[in-house]
Amino acid sequence: MLDAFDDLPQVRNLREHTYEALGDTIVDVGCGSGRAVGELAARGVRAIGIDLDPAMIEVAIERWPIGRFHVGDATALPLDDGAVTGYRADKVLHTLAEPELAVAEARRVLARNGRAVLIGQDWDTFVIDSDDPELTRTLVHARADGMANPRVARRYRNLLLDNGFIDVTVEVHTIVWTDAGCLPVLASIAGEGSWLDGQAARARNDRLFVAVPIFLASGTRAD
Ligand SMILES: C[S@@+](CC[C@H](N)C(=O)[O-])C[C@H]1O[C@@H](n2cnc3c(N)ncnc32)[C@H](O)[C@@H]1O
Repeated sequence: MLDAFDDLPQVRNLREHTYEALGDTIVDVGCGSGRAVGELAARGVRAIGIDLDPAMIEVAIERWPIGRFHVGDATALPLDDGAVTGYRADKVLHTLAEPELAVAEARRVLARNGRAVLIGQDWDTFVIDSDDPELTRTLVHARADGMANPRVARRYRNLLLDNGFIDVTVEVHTIVWTDAGCLPVLASIAGEGSWLDGQAARARNDRLFVAVPIFLASGTRAD
């Protein structure tokens, strides 16, 4: 599911954008299967991927032997103070009960003038065309309610400001998805059943429409 999303041309461009201004030593926290670390390492950046899930780290090492990967927790990173020039967390903070601890940890591991980038979707704002808008709204909100922090993306700016960052900027880029590659994401929201069948029929008839606003906030470590 992540691969299908991360392969979209719009998402590739957005990911490239997150690599800007992060310097030569970057930690990717919640790195998943390691794509960002691999892409950064391939361009000569010292890139370190950290993920809580050992299975993810195994996949990352296999897929991206050029990168460095470690099992670790976003709220207690296995890095010294000031160890990195850049920090990124892509689609991660919604999984954390206390995302402010991760942002404080970002500040700790960043060197002077280091920059952090937080990126992800707000799980309440999936826009899905369907024949039953009310059910769609219910399904989207039910999925969001099952997460630790479904609306954290709209808090990125405040989290950075409240945890020792300055020069904070925010952008929103909306991903539009109209092909069957989106169906696993919709299945993760709705499960199997007639609603998903309806979306699959839309995909077959080229009538699928999903829009996902992606929030991207960045800030510089305050001294
Ligand atoms: C939705 S995935 C995103 C993966 C990757 N960043 C990407 O953009 O494809 C979220 C990742 O965060 C990891 N994660 C969840 N809680 C974490 C924590 N406390 N510390 C580090 N990683 C965590 C999960 O194991 C998972 O790999």
